Amino acid sequence: MTALADLLVRRIRATGPITLADYMAECLLHPLHGYYSTRDPFGASGDFTTAPEISQMFGELLGLCLAQTWLDQGAPSRFTLAELGPGRGTLMADVLRATKGVPGFHAAAQVVMVEASPTLRRVQAQTLSRQRDHGTRWIEAIGDLPEQPLFLLANEFFDALPIHQFQRDGTEWRQRMVGLRDGQLAFGLSDPVNPFMVGQKFQNDPSGTIIEVCPLGRAIAGNVGHRLHHFGGAAIIIDYGGWRSKGNTLQALRAHRFEDPLANPGEADLTAHVDFEDIADKIRTPHSALTDQGTLLHRLGIASRSARLAANLTGPALESHLAAYHRLTDPAEMGSLFKAIAFHSLGTSAPPGFT
Ligand SMILES: C[S@@+](CC[C@H](N)C(=O)[O-])C[C@H]1O[C@@H](n2cnc3c(N)ncnc32)[C@H](O)[C@@H]1O
Repeated sequence: MTALADLLVRRIRATGPITLADYMAECLLHPLHGYYSTRDPFGASGDFTTAPEISQMFGELLGLCLAQTWLDQGAPSRFTLAELGPGRGTLMADVLRATKGVPGFHAAAQVVMVEASPTLRRVQAQTLSRQRDHGTRWIEAIGDLPEQPLFLLANEFFDALPIHQFQRDGTEWRQRMVGLRDGQLAFGLSDPVNPFMVGQKFQNDPSGTIIEVCPLGRAIAGNVGHRLHHFGGAAIIIDYGGWRSKGNTLQALRAHRFEDPLANPGEADLTAHVDFEDIADKIRTPHSALTDQGTLLHRLGIASRSARLAANLTGPALESHLAAYHRLTDPAEMGSLFKAIAFHSLGTSAPPGFT
C-alpha cells in the first residue's frame, strides 16, 4: 500500500467515502505524497511523454501562432504570456526561442507560469534559465494573473484536473465515490443526488450512463473567459477528449502502462478526457472549431519546419526527428487523439491555423 493509500484508508474509515474529485486531488497534489507534488513524471524514464517533450516543433509553431495573434490584435504594449500546467517548462522555452525575432513581442510580454507543484516549478525555472531572463513569474492559481491582455497556452492541463462522476440509476443520478471494501479502496455509489449537479442536457440519458464533471476546469475556464472578454487576447487549449465527452474516461498511467486508478494512489498519473463543449460554455468568447492536433500542426507549417530541421540531421538523430514528426501528426498516433481549440476576444479573428 502506498503512503497516500494508507492516509486515505484512515480518512475514509473515520469520515466516510470521498468523491472521486477529492480522491484525484489528493493523488495528484497532496503536499507530501501527491503525484505532481513529488516528481518530474515526463519522458521515457517517467510515466508519459507529452507533445512538447517529443519535439521542439510543437512549441515553436504554437509560439509563432500566438505571436501572430498578438500582432493581429494590434500588438498590445503589455500583455501576459501565460501557460497553465507547464510540466518541465519545455513548451514555454520553445515558444520564447521561436518568437525572439518577432519585433516587440518579448518586450511587451510578461511571462507567467501557472503551476501548482513546487517540484515542477523548480524544474521549469531550470529549463527557462538556459535562455535570456524574461522576468518570468510563477503563480499557483489563475486568479493571480495580471489584469491585462492574455495570450495563453494549456497543453494536457485540463485532463489533469479532478473530476466528479455521476451514474444514471433508473430515473435518479448517483455520484461515484471512493470508499472501502475489505479494507481496500473501492468504488461505490452515493445516495441519489440533485440532478442539477449533472446538468440539464443529460437528463434523458439511459440508466447506466456515466457523466463526468470537472468543477475546477469550469472555474479556470470561466476565469480565462473573463480575462479575454475584459482585456483581450487568446487562449489555445490542446488535450485529449471531445466536444461532448461521455462515459467513464478516468485512467491511471504508470511507467507508460495503464493500471487500476485505485491501485497506487500518488504513484500513478490520473487523467480524464476533456469535455471541450463544457469549457466553451464557461469561457463564452468566440472560438474556433475543435481541430485535430495533426491538422493544426500541418496548417501551421510543420512539414516545412520538419524538412528544414531534417536537412541538418543524419543517422539516428534524423530517424528520431522523423519519428517525432509522425508521432505528433499521424492520425494513428497523437494526430487525431489530441484536439485543439482557440478562444479569442470578441471582434478579433481566430489565431492562424484555427480558421
Ligand atoms: C500532464 S502535465 C502537462 C505538462 C505540460 N503542459 C506538457 O505538455 O508537457 C499537467 C501539468 O499541470 C500541473 N497541474 C496539475 N493540476 C494543477 C492545478 N490545479 N493548478 C496548476 N497546475 C496544475 C501539473 O503539475 C503539470 O505541470
